[in-house]
Parts: sequence; structure tokens; C-alpha cells
Amino acid sequence: MKQTLEQTLRAAIRTIPDYPKPGIQFRDITTLLGDARAFRRSVDELVHPYAGMKVDKIAGIEARGFILGGAMAHQLSSGFIPIRKKGKLPHETVRVAYSLEYGIDEMEMHRDAVKEGEKVILVDDLIATGGTAEGAVKLLRQMGAQIVAACFVIDLPDLGGRAKLEALGVEVNTLIAYE
Ligand code: PRP
Ligand code: ADE
Repeated sequence: MKQTLEQTLRAAIRTIPDYPKPGIQFRDITTLLGDARAFRRSVDELVHPYAGMKVDKIAGIEARGFILGGAMAHQLSSGFIPIRKKGKLPHETVRVAYSLEYGIDEMEMHRDAVKEGEKVILVDDLIATGGTAEGAVKLLRQMGAQIVAACFVIDLPDLGGRAKLEALGVEVNTLIAYE
């Protein structure tokens, strides 16, 4: 019998206790990426709400958002924007500081990566506090992007990230939640 999406994802995602800091249950998607069926199903489900829609660009957050975002861009015939940790992009950038479940950091995107009014979908593997995604939304909007939605394989609803993005007027789509 065909597994439900929930069963497929739960079986493919690995949990590492106390990584990268004590008390964090790290939801590791490398096992999902290594499972051809689970990887394809995840990408299919992530793009499903936007099938037939003209989406100019997928913006992926370093690092795991690059893998999912590249596959989504291919499937939706969209371009791809890398949102990177600071100091990695070679051309003129816009930068934002952000906090996440286990630290603080800064990220950047190229100033010319998006044109005013372009329709963009943001993607990452996981949303926890939403600090990372909020930073990415700020960068994209600063450059004039129209954010169609933000999507994630994993939601950690107890940490409030989805609510944080929704309060900014961003539609959020996620595939599986871990309490
Ligand atoms: C993880 C994850 C998200 C972020 C979510 O990335 O891939 O980008 O944390 O946390 P938040 O919702 O609390 O902001 P991480 O910073 O570990 O970077 P990596 O993908 O480069 O390992
Ligand atoms: N990013 C923030 N919190 C995380 C977690 N618990 N697992 C994987 N990535 C994360």
C-alpha cells in the first residue's frame, strides 16, 4: 500500500539529539535527500500549490534550501536566487542580521538578484523560530520582490516561525511538523 506523505517523510528524516548544541533535536534531511523516492515526493509536494503559476524565481536559503530550491526551480521553470551566509557572494550585496534556534548570523543576497515586482517563492528545509526566513523575506522585499509564499519541508510549530512569517503577510506551506 502507498505510504502517506507523512509516513514517507517521517521515515526518511533522521533526528540527531544534542546537535549542534545540547538540548537541540536536530532534524537531519540528508537521509531524505539520499532517498530517491522521498526526495522526489518532497519536491513534488513543495511545488504542487504553484503548478501552472508563473513564478519568476525561487530563493533558497543556504545551505539546504539550495538543494530543494534548485529542484523546485527546475520543476517550475523559474530562476534561482541564492541567499547566503555573509561574505560568500562576489558582487554587490544587501545584508541582514538574524537569529535562529541556536545562534545569530548574517546573510546576504546580490542586489541585482531580483527585479522590482518579480514573483518569488522562498524555500528552506526547516522553519523553527523563523528568524532565518524573516531575514530572507526582508532582503527580498527590500529589493522589490513580491513574495508568493515561503515553503519548508519541516515545521517546528512550538518555536513560532510560521506565525512570525504569517504576521508579515507571507503565505507559509510546510510538509511535516515535529512537536
Ligand atoms: C537551519 C535551517 C534553517 C534555519 C531555521 O539552518 O536550515 O535555515 O536553521 O532556523 P530558524 O527558523 O530558527 O531561523 P542553519 O542555520 O543550521 O544553517 P545550514 O543550513 O547552513 O546548516
Ligand atoms: N534549524 C533550527 N532548528 C533546527 C533543528 N531543530 N533541526 C534542524 N535545523 C534547525
